[in-house]
Amino acid sequence: MRLWPSEPFGQTVAILAIAYLLIELGIPYIPPLFGLASAPAPDSVVFQYMLTVLMGVLIWVSDNEERWRAFKRPIQRVLVEEKRKPIRVALLVLVPVLVAFIAFDQARPSLSAPPSFRAIHPAPPGSMTFRDRTIPITGLENPLRHEGRLEAHYEEGKRIYYRNCLVCHGDLLDGQGPYGPAFNPAPLSFQDVGTIQQLTESYVFWRIAKGGAGLPNEGGPWNSAMPAWEEFLTEDEIWTVIIFLYEQADKTPRTWEEVAGSEGGPQ
Ligand code: HEC
Repeated sequence: MRLWPSEPFGQTVAILAIAYLLIELGIPYIPPLFGLASAPAPDSVVFQYMLTVLMGVLIWVSDNEERWRAFKRPIQRVLVEEKRKPIRVALLVLVPVLVAFIAFDQARPSLSAPPSFRAIHPAPPGSMTFRDRTIPITGLENPLRHEGRLEAHYEEGKRIYYRNCLVCHGDLLDGQGPYGPAFNPAPLSFQDVGTIQQLTESYVFWRIAKGGAGLPNEGGPWNSAMPAWEEFLTEDEIWTVIIFLYEQADKTPRTWEEVAGSEGGPQ
């Protein structure tokens, strides 16, 4: 059996197939054999190269009258000969179906939600009410840092975290809890430098107590799934979970001296 086709039409098909394989596999895989960096060619580049190859082949087959006639022969046969009718009918169905599919694929709307970016931490109020008591936020320190043993607060905070927060914020405090992926915006990762490390403990207290519902109207819609914990946890319980967050994520809270030294309060 001869592998290389003798007719110009078969040769054209073979050249296009080899060119496709070379572009598709050669660009990503051949340079690494010589220790050179490489990456797969994007579809649009593959399309451009294939077009160039096709133009080259067409120039070659049409350059000589004899070859051009030989090239057209199989096409003409499929179009007119009685015994090639099944191929003709198959092509008449397949080509429009293919075009229809490509058009459909390009026009199909994408179902993925647009990404949402949270640029800043909203400004907290100067004070807040917590179960009928007014608590100042500005200048407030975590009272438990000077009361009792830190280890005991840490253990208590850990218990509260595992019972209430883990499902969303994750056991590694990275926002990857089992329910985390269901929310947009996602639960925040406390390992991130952009979260608790930038905040004072009283700011974090306000966020935990008031949750997504307590976020100010400016900068919204926040669409936050963060629950308001003032209904379920006591003041001390929130302060202990805050100690747990900072200790476990190995971060230090922002102090009020730092806030006073910078413009605009806690960000
Ligand atoms: C239902 C899921 C869910 C649970 C449970 C949950 N959170 Fe959240 N939390 C979120 C989401 C979503 C955000 C991000 C949106 C936002 O900031 O309101 C968030 C944000 C936060 C923030 C704000 C951090 C920042 O940088 O602004 C803190 C602090 C926080 N959570 C602490 C907790 C603590 C402590 C608990 C447990 C007592 C908890 N969360 C339980 C979903 C949850």
